Amino acid sequence: MKSVLVGFMGAGKSTAARTLGEGAADVDAVIEARVGRSVQEIFEQDGEAAFRELEEQATLELLADHAIHTVALGGGALGSSRVREALKEVRVIWLDVEVDLAWERIGAGKDSARPLARDPQAFERLHSERRPDYEALADVIVPASRVENFSEVIASLEGLGAKEAQVLWATTASGDYPVYIGRGLVSERGFWPANIPGRRVVISDYNAGRHYGEAFEPTFAGIRVMPGEQSKTLAHAEIVWTEMVRHGVTRTDVVAAIGGGVVGDLAGFCAATYQRGMRYVQVPTTLVAQVDSAYGGKTGVDLSEAKNYVGAFHQPVAVIADTATLETLPAEELAAGYAEVVKTGLLAGGALWDLISGGAAPNDPRVIAGCALTKLRVVAEDEQDLGLRQTLNLGHTVGHAIETATGYARYRHGEAVGLGLLAALRLSGADSLRDEVAGLMGEAGLPLTLDPSLDVDQVIFATARDKKRVGEGPVPFVLCPAPGRAQFGQYVPPAELRAAVKELFG
Ligand SMILES: NC(=O)c1ccc[n+]([C@@H]2O[C@H](COP(=O)([O-])OP(=O)(O)OC[C@H]3O[C@@H](n4cnc5c(N)ncnc54)[C@H](O)[C@@H]3O)[C@@H](O)[C@H]2O)c1
Repeated sequence: MKSVLVGFMGAGKSTAARTLGEGAADVDAVIEARVGRSVQEIFEQDGEAAFRELEEQATLELLADHAIHTVALGGGALGSSRVREALKEVRVIWLDVEVDLAWERIGAGKDSARPLARDPQAFERLHSERRPDYEALADVIVPASRVENFSEVIASLEGLGAKEAQVLWATTASGDYPVYIGRGLVSERGFWPANIPGRRVVISDYNAGRHYGEAFEPTFAGIRVMPGEQSKTLAHAEIVWTEMVRHGVTRTDVVAAIGGGVVGDLAGFCAATYQRGMRYVQVPTTLVAQVDSAYGGKTGVDLSEAKNYVGAFHQPVAVIADTATLETLPAEELAAGYAEVVKTGLLAGGALWDLISGGAAPNDPRVIAGCALTKLRVVAEDEQDLGLRQTLNLGHTVGHAIETATGYARYRHGEAVGLGLLAALRLSGADSLRDEVAGLMGEAGLPLTLDPSLDVDQVIFATARDKKRVGEGPVPFVLCPAPGRAQFGQYVPPAELRAAVKELFG
């Protein structure tokens, strides 16, 4: 399977190709060897048009060469329609570099040898112009920080068709892993990454397990819990640990968590703690899990007093999201997941918010991949929830309080988050955005008002237990005055909180 590396100047395409050794070619290096001059010299002596012609010719030749498995393209190669056409047949790997890092890496500045890297404003403009092209073409998106040991990235793609899945590369301080998003990956062909060895221990619930529990053969052990939030407890973790001991599971085995957020959080927690930690793969089968909970390594269980109070940060070794599994998901569960979709769109702003607010279906693969990418970028910056990651809690302060106050039984997690989002937008003073979000949620079938049997005080009391609270201080909120502009650590006057919660009773 031929792979092509694309990305802006300074993304590290040549470095990545070099780490792959024989069979990998760098277009710029091939041109320089042929012409006997550096790219800069060709640019300056013959002009950009002449260079682009050489670039197109060399690129097409290398793409057709069977001895070459990976081709690193020049930064401007996508300007050629013939090259873009040829990329339809191969796997396109985008090395995504932030503009500041690109500037620094190539030693840009007014004396730079690269003509396109002398003026910072023009450089930034070019970077933002090219980004959407790379994103649209990419089958695999890898942060540019991950160019060393690139063979690990390539190994994770073994056995996968060029256009079979969108693959995102997650980077965190404690580990990297691939995220595969594709239709039928699990349900039709039980795809399992070739570079993840070990006996597979499938942990699932009776619903997801009935449909997909047998997808990965051979399976060493299968453990199922009752569906629903009530299974996310220490008592259920003990049941799972005990079953693992009975099956003779060891820490060299690997857990496959097949199901929604409940299974992912519980199985991830069991994997984090069983024999002090073993590997696990998230196989999310609900919308909540495919757009949110499967990524980022937060695992844990609820206490009856407060949600997600006991747990561990433990990153999966891979995530395999099969969008076809959403077809067996009940409509109310799909709606519940839509609240997390809207939340992520509000955090991302830009193209993702345009797609979601424009009415894209909740299970649109572009929406799922866009939400996953948004979350992965946040977690890459702040794995331990010390700053930016707290923005992911938008809508969750009141949402978790609703869940706790109703004993985790009355509302689905997503439904509670949807109501929490409405409260958070009111507290943000984003009144028209709140109306827009209520419109989207209403159309998706999400509740817009709280059960009248519930009491305002119960909800307010439960917000005080929010995990983001520091000591005796007030509970910090995430506010979002406009899409793409969420702020964490915001304090709100108690009277405003009461009014925003009261309003939820209609
Ligand atoms: N770890 C995180 O970062 C994170 C983020 C967001 C949410 N969460 C957690 O996720 C949980 C909610 O997850 P959820 O909404 O996926 O709920 P869930 O796991 O309870 O799944 C919802 C229901 O759908 C069923 N189901 C799952 N997949 C199915 C399929 N493909 N076909 C048919 N039925 C299927 C389940 O059995 C269950 O009855 C909450 O506990 C929440 O705290 C965690």
